[in-house]
Amino acid sequence: MAYAIITGASKGLGAATAKQLLSEGVNIISVSRSENEELKKQAEVDNGKYQHYTCNLGSSSEVQSVFKEMADTVFGKEKEVVYLINNAGMVDPIETAGRLDAEGTEANVNVNLLAPMIISNLFLEKVENSDARLVIANVSSGAGSRPIQGWSVYCSTKAGINMFTQTVALELENRSSKHRVFAFSPGIMDTDMQSTIRSSSKSAFNDIETFKKYKEEGMLRDAETVAGALVKVLKSNDIENGKIYQINALL
Ligand SMILES: NC(=O)c1ccc[n+]([C@@H]2O[C@H](COP(=O)([O-])OP(=O)(O)OC[C@H]3O[C@@H](n4cnc5c(N)ncnc54)[C@H](OP(=O)(O)O)[C@@H]3O)[C@@H](O)[C@H]2O)c1
Repeated sequence: MAYAIITGASKGLGAATAKQLLSEGVNIISVSRSENEELKKQAEVDNGKYQHYTCNLGSSSEVQSVFKEMADTVFGKEKEVVYLINNAGMVDPIETAGRLDAEGTEANVNVNLLAPMIISNLFLEKVENSDARLVIANVSSGAGSRPIQGWSVYCSTKAGINMFTQTVALELENRSSKHRVFAFSPGIMDTDMQSTIRSSSKSAFNDIETFKKYKEEGMLRDAETVAGALVKVLKSNDIENGKIYQINALL
């Protein structure tokens, strides 16, 4: 039976992905600062295996200790496939450069980029002592390939995760590895992240009205639909190493 480690499974895309994989019989390990009670209940009803680790991904020391313990357990048990879904993310700070808060900037870099790098590195190390196949999905954004005013930190961390994905993929290909890594760009979804965007200010983010319209005109996809597309890629037998999968091409 497979394992899926999902960061940011307390809400939004992470929660929808966890629910779907749980219903398909995958062992779920959720990692975030708060726990999703619905997911916990679903696991009880489905007799599914579910475990939650409370972890602030903004702290690299916490990330290292939590994921070391978890990797030892998972790779000690799992012989087939381990899915690592680096999904947790934050859009803040939304502000133009020159007005960015240093602490917020550090947290964003740690959650969106440093934590996925540390966790992927650790899992790629630990999987070597196991028979399991590792599939890493890094949740990215269209913001990783185009500049958006007020989003310099978010755009940079998402561009960084794309390049990390492509570089690790190159290394895996060069050693004919069975492991896979890909990025997934989910498009605009109706989650708390979009509420944060809509509650920013026009002076910090000049395109705020467009994002308010996305919500008003029902243009935000629900997280369940997007999770379905992500799960389809995760489970496919021909994942293209290093590819940035785009939601529009998958639906
Ligand atoms: N929503 C969109 O329109 C959109 C568009 C493009 C890309 N994305 C990407 O899709 C992914 C999921 O976004 P979403 O919209 O589902 O966001 P969301 O609803 O705001 O959920 C974010 C998740 O990340 C976790 N998280 C945030 N900071 C954390 C921290 N310091 N430590 C541990 N966990 C943390 C949160 O858990 P806790 O608060 O419980 O810790 C939560 O589970 C993100 O990578 C995002 O960048 C979203």
